[in-house]
Amino acid sequence: MVCRNRSFAQHKSDYLFYEIAQKKEHLQKQEPRAKLINLGIGDTTEPLCLPVTAGLVKQAEALGTRGGYRGYPSSFGDKKLRDTIAQKLYQGNVCADDIFISDGAKCDVGRLQHLFGPDTTIAIQDPSYPVYEHTSYLSGKAGRVDRLQMDPENNFFPKLTAADVIYICSPNNPTGVAYNREQLKQLVDFCKKNGSILIFDAAYFSYIRGDDFPRSIYEIEGAQEVAIEINSFSKVAGFTGIRVGWSVVPQTLCFDDGSSVQADWKKIVTTFFNGVSHLSQAAAMAALSDEGLQCAKEQCDYYLNNCRLLRDFFLERKFRVFGGVHAPYLWIDLDGKKSWEIFDYLLQKAHIITTPGVGFGAAGEGYLRISGFCSRLDVTSAIQRMSATSL
Ligand code: MLT
Repeated sequence: MVCRNRSFAQHKSDYLFYEIAQKKEHLQKQEPRAKLINLGIGDTTEPLCLPVTAGLVKQAEALGTRGGYRGYPSSFGDKKLRDTIAQKLYQGNVCADDIFISDGAKCDVGRLQHLFGPDTTIAIQDPSYPVYEHTSYLSGKAGRVDRLQMDPENNFFPKLTAADVIYICSPNNPTGVAYNREQLKQLVDFCKKNGSILIFDAAYFSYIRGDDFPRSIYEIEGAQEVAIEINSFSKVAGFTGIRVGWSVVPQTLCFDDGSSVQADWKKIVTTFFNGVSHLSQAAAMAALSDEGLQCAKEQCDYYLNNCRLLRDFFLERKFRVFGGVHAPYLWIDLDGKKSWEIFDYLLQKAHIITTPGVGFGAAGEGYLRISGFCSRLDVTSAIQRMSATSL
């Protein structure tokens, strides 16, 4: 008999969105006619932008020709795509050779764990996107994970404690707030002083409006020496199903013995990954064209407008509401009620799927996350249905 991997035995909970999907299936079995509205997982709903569709078609046709056929993609991504990301999204703040194209931020969060041995200490925001914690546990770091408490009084910016690796997400999932320049400078300085590596998740950067909040950690001086940034086209270009993301692993980032983090990252990428499909990379290139960027901005505005309508509803009902202005998520204070209790109530009474705050960590108890990723029709129906409840 094979001994079970101890890391899995130590990690009891299921992945949050899998658990929610099971509850949804259960309800559908009980009430097959129920028309569910999904304000739970942050999954895009609007059709692809025209330039993206055109890019996909063109690439598909090229692959069907002798001259245009290509086999395995490069493990690090097409040079042209890396150059375009460096220019258009980082305005030259980041060098193309430090950008690694991936099949999504979540997949990179998992692969990044291979950079760090089982003795590495980890600090994760509480609440936070569950994948940072799950991948830490599954890669043998249970018992080495510290949760950084966040509360509304400090705009959900965590109280920092020293750890080898610190995960921070801004604009933040799940609280929907964005951190300002001063807060991010404090973070970079803290990592520098303590010799920590910062893993900065910027997957929602395109929802930031105005100039008060940095869109990348590399807008902060010194970040190139401490930070890896993970990112994705899923929420930026509105295509979660196409699967393209990227990570920035700067050449200037080193381990304590002076060795290069990027060199080890290249080993991981070339060993575990065979590159992103040519079709997906063509979609990403098209999303970065002038028309593609304009259309992506309009889509982000659409989802932010959904948030505004939902926010107004909750404010009218006298809830404390956070987020939804620079991020596509609302974080609702349930005024003493339990997260799963309200989740179940809305599912049963209004057939609306939400995300219980406690699923993102103990500090999320008493909150509910509402996603703005849905159609306008679903938003207005959800508001009507919620108005008819005793929420
Ligand atoms: C979320 O809803 O937090 C995310 O969309 C889930 C994901 O990106 O994996």
